[in-house]
Parts: sequence; C-alpha cells; structure tokens
Amino acid sequence: MAFRCISCQHPMIHSIGNSVKCENCDRSYFVVNGTPIFLNDELAYLNDNYASIQTHIANTHAHIRIGEDSFYLRPERIEYFRQLQDGFLANLELYDNLLTELAPYTNPELIAKADYLNFVNSPIKGKEINYFIRDWSGLETCELEISTIVKILRNCIANYSNSRGSIFFAGSGTGRFAFELANDFDQVYCTDLSFRMVKFFDYILKEEKFNLNILSGFSNVYHPKDVTREVAVSNQNKLTPTNITNFVSDICNIPLQDNSMEVFASIYFLDCLNVEFYIEEIYRVLKTDGIYVNIGPIGYPGGNFIHNLLPSEIKPIFERQGFLIEFEDFEEIPYMNFDHEMSTLIHKNWIFVARKTAKIKLEELKIESVLKINDTFYTERRAQISDDGENVFFNRIYFANGNTYEDADLFIEILYRIDGVNSLEKVISQINNDLDLQLSFDDIKPHIERFITNKTLKFT
Ligand SMILES: C[S@@+](CC[C@H](N)C(=O)[O-])C[C@H]1O[C@@H](n2cnc3c(N)ncnc32)[C@H](O)[C@@H]1O
Repeated sequence: MAFRCISCQHPMIHSIGNSVKCENCDRSYFVVNGTPIFLNDELAYLNDNYASIQTHIANTHAHIRIGEDSFYLRPERIEYFRQLQDGFLANLELYDNLLTELAPYTNPELIAKADYLNFVNSPIKGKEINYFIRDWSGLETCELEISTIVKILRNCIANYSNSRGSIFFAGSGTGRFAFELANDFDQVYCTDLSFRMVKFFDYILKEEKFNLNILSGFSNVYHPKDVTREVAVSNQNKLTPTNITNFVSDICNIPLQDNSMEVFASIYFLDCLNVEFYIEEIYRVLKTDGIYVNIGPIGYPGGNFIHNLLPSEIKPIFERQGFLIEFEDFEEIPYMNFDHEMSTLIHKNWIFVARKTAKIKLEELKIESVLKINDTFYTERRAQISDDGENVFFNRIYFANGNTYEDADLFIEILYRIDGVNSLEKVISQINNDLDLQLSFDDIKPHIERFITNKTLKFT
C-alpha cells in the first residue's frame, strides 16, 4: 500500500478496521464501514456531511410538498406527479443509508456548528445520483459515454506509459473509470472529497443493488409518463476487482507516498478547482516518467475568473512544475445522456497528457552545455512518397526504457547534431541555419531535460 500520513508525511500501512493509525505520529483516521477518511478535521467533515444529507432530505420533502399543494389545479396529471414523487422518495432511501453510516460519528455540538452549505446538493435530484445512474445502470447511452472515455484513457496510457504498477484517479466520483481500468494495473487508487460519491462506489464494490430513478420532471421529456424512469443500479454482473482502494481525501493533500504512481488520471475533474492548488501534489505522487492524463470539459461551474484557468494557461503551469507535454487533442462526447430526455449536453473534452521529468537543477542545463548520446535509442519513420510529395504517418523515437517520443522529426534533427563537442548554442544555430527555423533554447529545453532524465543524453 502506497499511503502516507497527511499529518506527518510518514509512510503508513492501511489495514481495514475501524481506523487507520500512523505508527510514526500516532494519528488515527476513521474508516467508515471500510472507507478511510484521510482529511484534517475529519470529525467535523463527517458531521457536516450528516447535516447536509439531512438538509437534502428535508429539501426534497419540501419540494414534493410544494408540488403536491398545487396539483389540485391539474387533477388529470396527478398520476404522473405521484410517479415523480415516488421516484424522489425511492432515491432518498440511498441517503438514509448514508445517514445510518454516519450516525456513530455524530455529535450534537458539531451538528449545530455544521458547515453543511459546503456540501449542499443542488439541484434537488442529487448530482451524485446522476453519476451513479450513468455509471452503473447499464443504459445504452451511458455505456457509450463511459466506453468512449475509457477508450481515450487506454489509448493515452498505451501511447505514453509502459508501466502498469499503480494508477490514481482524482475526483473519481462513483468509480466507473477506476473499475474499468482495474485489470490494466496492479493497484488502483481512487479518491473523492464527496462522502456520497465515495460511498456509492463502495456499495458497488460490495455488490449491493438499488432501484433508482432518473428524475427528469416536467421538462425536456415527450410524455408525462417520462417524468421519472426507474433503473436498476448494480455492478451489472461484472466481476468485482479486488485491487481497488477507494477513499475520501482532498486532492490538495493526497495521502499517497511520493513517487508511487505510474498514472495520475483526471477525468472530468480539471475544472473542479484551480490546478495550481494541487500541481505540486500531482508531481509529488507520480513516479519520474509517470504520466498525468486529463480528459474532460473546461466548464468551471463557478464564475471566478482568477481561478478559472484555461488550457493555454494550464500547459505552462505543468511545464514550470517539471512536466513535459506529450499530447493534446479534443473530442466531443455527450454528457449524462438519457435516451428519453429531449436535450443533450455535448462537451468538447480536452485531452491532455503530460510526463513528469526529474527536475534538473537549472544551473546544470544551460545553453553552453555540451551533451553527448549516453544510451542507444531507435527511430522509426513511416511515410508515403508519391508524385504529390511526402506524407509522414509517424516519426517516432524509442528509448531504451521502452517509452516512445512521438512526432520526433525535429528532435531527431537535434539529436543528429549533438556530438559531445558542440554546445547546445551551436547545435541550435546549426539547426536554425540548416532548416530555416528560429528555435530558441527555451523551446528545446524541456525536451532535452527529458532525454537527460531517461539517460538517453548526458553531460560531457
Ligand atoms: C464532475 S465530477 C467527476 C467524477 C468522476 N471523475 C467521473 O467523471 O465520473 C468531479 C468530482 O470531483 C470531486 N472533487 C471536487 N473537488 C475535489 C477535491 N478538492 N478533492 C477531491 N475530489 C474533489 C467532486 O466531489 C466530484 O465527485
């Protein structure tokens, strides 16, 4: 297990019981029915959650009452309203389960002080229920959404990582992506700050089954009978993997050891909070050469322009931290697409892969540095040559450690000119002359750093 204590940063053994204890500083963490809570002030957190769930239940009842009070005006529709009402009430049973789990940790004083607004669930139908249904109902449109994202994630991993030790899912929600990738990795770690999300995934891992309802209401459906749809939520008879560790924590203080993960997966998460708040955590938990993969929209729900960073601003943040940007692309994917609803949101998702490179002391790599080839590497180029000229399909470098470097045309030219005699300044000037370019040292520096890190190049 790759855990570390969030108080003293000492490695920690996680054993399933009522608590996890750090042997170094004696700090213990609650484990709520198998779910560890790695947070500062977790007792306040659990009480805040209890109060917020109670509020959610009360708000839902109030919502139903308001509807009920006005339905004498449209008696012919009452059966559909009753159907919706039953759907709301059935979904609330899931929240009752959560209250039962939290009850042993409640304390009247903390409940009275609860900061439950932090966890208020709006809209009333419950955002996490929608994720739960999308992930675990087996509905065709939802399965298509999941499988499209899983395919992209698998491609990114296949192209940029050749190691299958541990993967970490940040803001993992109700866990479907972690579940899907479990056979690809030895260990899967997933975390979310939402107690509800983490618990729902836990129910799936414990092979529980639920009847839940898609609560569309009287809008965007064709017939009043569609105001609610009952669905069966379960692991859909998939084999439950045993290598998943699912826990509550804040991405700004991840309870995982340094250099412990091969892949850091951020699926529909990057626009939850400013990545500057946890970029150091991403760097810390990844192994050198490990990859960060983002797939998702950049649709910040709140409107804070100071923190709502955009892709072109996010990329330099990764580079400054010591990441090399490997890949970016966009793909349109429908979001929470329920067949009977008459509108669909389509996100143009940003797919972005960055590799952690070892930080090289700045004074070490300079424009005056003289480098030489240290370890053999291989190149592969496939092109079609015809009357119309050349059409290059790929031009790739294979490193001795098995990783690849794509679109390597320019870098192969640079490597040809690195000879253990000429400084990088000379190499850049030669290449600019030969190919009529205007490359600067800053343009090639992160790439050179990667080649030094993986020992393909070394200083003379
Ligand atoms: C849009 S949802 C996506 C969930 C999941 N990745 C998926 O695609 O199914 C974003 C998730 O990030 C979680 N989250 C937000 N802030 C977080 C934080 N500081 N630390 C951990 N998780 C967080 C939310 O609770 C929510 O479950």
